[in-house]
Amino acid sequence: KFPKILVVGGAGYIGSHMVKMLRAAGYVPVVVDDLSSGRREAVLGAELVVGDIGDANLLDEVLERVSPAAVMHFASFIQVGESVQEPAKYYRNNVIATQVLLDGMRAHGVRNFIFSSTAAIFGNPKYDPIDEAHPKEPINPYGRSKWMVEQILEDYDRAYGLKSICLRYFNAAGADADGELGECHEPETHLIPLILQAASGRRPHVTIYGEDYDTPDGTCIRDYIHIEDLCSAHLHALDHLLQGGDSARYNLGNGNGFSVREVIDAARRVAGRHIAVEKGDRRAGDPPRLAADARKARAELGWTPKYADLDTIVAHAWAWELRRFQ
Ligand code: UFG
Repeated sequence: KFPKILVVGGAGYIGSHMVKMLRAAGYVPVVVDDLSSGRREAVLGAELVVGDIGDANLLDEVLERVSPAAVMHFASFIQVGESVQEPAKYYRNNVIATQVLLDGMRAHGVRNFIFSSTAAIFGNPKYDPIDEAHPKEPINPYGRSKWMVEQILEDYDRAYGLKSICLRYFNAAGADADGELGECHEPETHLIPLILQAASGRRPHVTIYGEDYDTPDGTCIRDYIHIEDLCSAHLHALDHLLQGGDSARYNLGNGNGFSVREVIDAARRVAGRHIAVEKGDRRAGDPPRLAADARKARAELGWTPKYADLDTIVAHAWAWELRRFQ
């Protein structure tokens, strides 16, 4: 008996890697994705139901038919700047549609939920690295939408016994080590793909958003975590829930920060190409340094990241860029 797992947002960057890893681990993933940013061709070897998780009737039909052992949720909007301009879009999709999904799960007796949360729930770091107990003071609607769902999940566990694991990602990066999948956002806003587009000639340069931060080289430091390590944490979380484990929240990162300059240098080493760089202004809302204290996930889930090395993360992303665009 192979447990079925409903993966909402399974056609996106993280969701598509998760589907592949679930299959390799013997699960049967079924994807629901409205393809607003996901890509049909990224869903490898799983059924894809095209639709919106805020559509209660569609969910009712899928949950009834599939009867999944758990639901994994990757179907959120993720752009901080856009969330400031269009908060309605973020609250409608990230909060209200998620509640529709949770209520569908309740109606169908699905009790296990894995939620993609974010470092953005913490707001400006009060100390470093950031552990799970760090105050939650998000500074934009995106972060607030994720924190709201985490709070809803606490209440749903208490009242309805719905078990959840919230995984707070720091900077998801890299690509499938086999080179089949990779990162592809439209528009692209993430640092590593933008640098690699500059390396492959798809854009003229990469702009550094601020060089006057209080960091050793003046550029912002982030904790990049390989997409396969992120997905393997989900597998451990799934295992925990399917064995009757309790709800929990974990920060996911490597704990090492790399500056924007260091990431560009890694890309130059890996690609062996010229990468033109321009100095830009600071981007609103960027804290100087974000790094995870992920010891709790290691200790409680038995999770060990495999690709903590920045050059490997960048090399996998570069292999994907070359394969798709050269
Ligand atoms: N950066 C640049 N130039 C660019 C793009 C980014 O210098 O062209 C810098 C940013 O200022 C930041 C770093 O590179 O210091 C990383 O930026 P990303 O946009 O790749 O990632 P963020 O740290 O801003 O965002 C990540 C996730 C978001 C999430 C956010 C907060 O990708 O989805 O963390 O948790 F909302």
